[in-house]
Amino acid sequence: MKRNTAMFLWLLILFSDIVPFSCERSMRERAIELMQESRLIDGHNDFVLQLRILYQNRLSRVNLRELNTTHTNLAKLQAGYVGAQFWSVYVLCSAQNKDAVRLTLEQIDVVKRMCNSYEELELVMTSQGISDSKRIACLIGIEGGHSIDSSLATLRMYYDLGVRYMTLTHSCNTPWSESSSKGIHNFYPSVTGLTAFGQEVVKEMNRLGMLIDLSHTSYSTVKAALNISKAPVIFSHSSAFSVCNHSRNVPDDILQQLKKNKGIIMVTFNADVLACGRKVVNISTLADHFDHIKAIAGSESIGIGGDYDGVERLVNFFPEGLEDVSKYPSLIEELLRRGWNETELKGVLRENFLRVFREVENVRNTFAVMDVGESEVLLEVQNSCRLELRKPQPQPSRSFGFPSVAQPFSLTLVSYLMLYYVS
Ligand SMILES: *[C@@H]1O[C@H](CO)[C@@H](O)[C@H](O)[C@H]1NC(C)=O
Ligand SMILES: *[C@@H]1O[C@H](CO)[C@@H](O)[C@H](O)[C@H]1NC(C)=O
Ligand SMILES: *[C@@H]1O[C@H](CO)[C@@H](O)[C@H](O)[C@H]1NC(C)=O
Ligand SMILES: *[C@@H]1O[C@H](CO)[C@@H](O)[C@H](O)[C@H]1NC(C)=O
Ligand SMILES: *[C@@H]1O[C@H](CO)[C@@H](O)[C@H](O)[C@H]1NC(C)=O
Ligand SMILES: [Zn+2]
Repeated sequence: MKRNTAMFLWLLILFSDIVPFSCERSMRERAIELMQESRLIDGHNDFVLQLRILYQNRLSRVNLRELNTTHTNLAKLQAGYVGAQFWSVYVLCSAQNKDAVRLTLEQIDVVKRMCNSYEELELVMTSQGISDSKRIACLIGIEGGHSIDSSLATLRMYYDLGVRYMTLTHSCNTPWSESSSKGIHNFYPSVTGLTAFGQEVVKEMNRLGMLIDLSHTSYSTVKAALNISKAPVIFSHSSAFSVCNHSRNVPDDILQQLKKNKGIIMVTFNADVLACGRKVVNISTLADHFDHIKAIAGSESIGIGGDYDGVERLVNFFPEGLEDVSKYPSLIEELLRRGWNETELKGVLRENFLRVFREVENVRNTFAVMDVGESEVLLEVQNSCRLELRKPQPQPSRSFGFPSVAQPFSLTLVSYLMLYYVS
């Protein structure tokens, strides 16, 4: 027995030394098999912003199957075994207090038209919809609380249109939430964490069944949201702060809290966020973030949020070997090589996100009809773009059916009645 085992080990060592290529290929094959079984759910893609920049959202002018000036096209998504994609309907922070709501609606419109006009795609709004889809399931995420213009009613209408996550801030504070980016915009500099209205936004998202996304938000905002949310939260496109101290990334104490919350961090591939300006950025750099987060929070707290087609620049923006959305299998191959097992990787690819989404839907089902949020932040958001709604001025009338008995109004009423009876 002992001799046989030794012989076997010796042969194994010899084999792997002589034929490294067959080993390499089998890692690739294992990665592909795994991804065919568990197609990727990606948390963040900015392709729709590119549609606005390059084509003013005119889908008739572009063939999404073969478009090659972007990181994303339909053939590449299929080559990357993408089974579901959250499309970001991001609008610039500079639209805050201007036409952010219109611009967001236009981005939602283009996602819907895109997903309805290609047979490769399909719009879904539920966890079951993702599980059932044989195509690339399209989901919609809002990136930045400025898109709701401080209105819970607007948030609710976005949900009705199919929006299933909202990132509480982008790189600007809103009147109710603090961003992790400092010095890019000067909106509401005195806001820290979540204001009372910000807490209402989180509660309303729980009630609606909308995922709370904390990428781009400040440490205080994250802490406050984790404290309030009854449902697990996500970071749709962030990596590990201990590996690269970029403001988008998540520190270890928050990773530990995220584990308790049963939420996930969908690790992002953006080279600046991964490597903090280091020259060589490759698949190993990205895999280091995965290894670190697994050590702190466990593999069941991890997903993938590539952030392809982010705006900053399209060249050298992603690590070597991960240039576009067809390259996801190379990451899975590297993680297999680093000893991640198939259960862990199926979680990372798909199951962890589905677990979170299902739980968010379950929490929604615990709310009563009467719980609708009706809070307002009118005082903080007075600006020239908002119509100031005044109570109607009372008009004299011959009818006695006056609705109000407010003080100045009663005086008018009394003097009017006197005039009436005198004449
Ligand atoms: C990109 O697409 C255009 C038009 O379909 C084609 O002419 C060009 O060769 C393509 N470029 C690459 C690098 O594939
Ligand atoms: C968490 O919430 C509780 C009660 O809702 C509150 O007393 C506490 O201050 C909150 N902590 C943080 C860090 O927001
Ligand atoms: C990141 O680390 C560098 C070097 O240690 C430091 O200069 C910088 O201020 C840090 N940035 C943040 C956001 O902590
Ligand atoms: C990434 O770059 C580092 C430093 O040059 C190198 O040691 C490592 O082998 C590279 N990884 C891959 C997967 O190419
Ligand atoms: C995979 O790793 C996890 C720990 O992350 C462990 O609980 C599980 O048993 C492993 N599965 C297999 C099949 O080895
Ligand atoms: Zn972003």
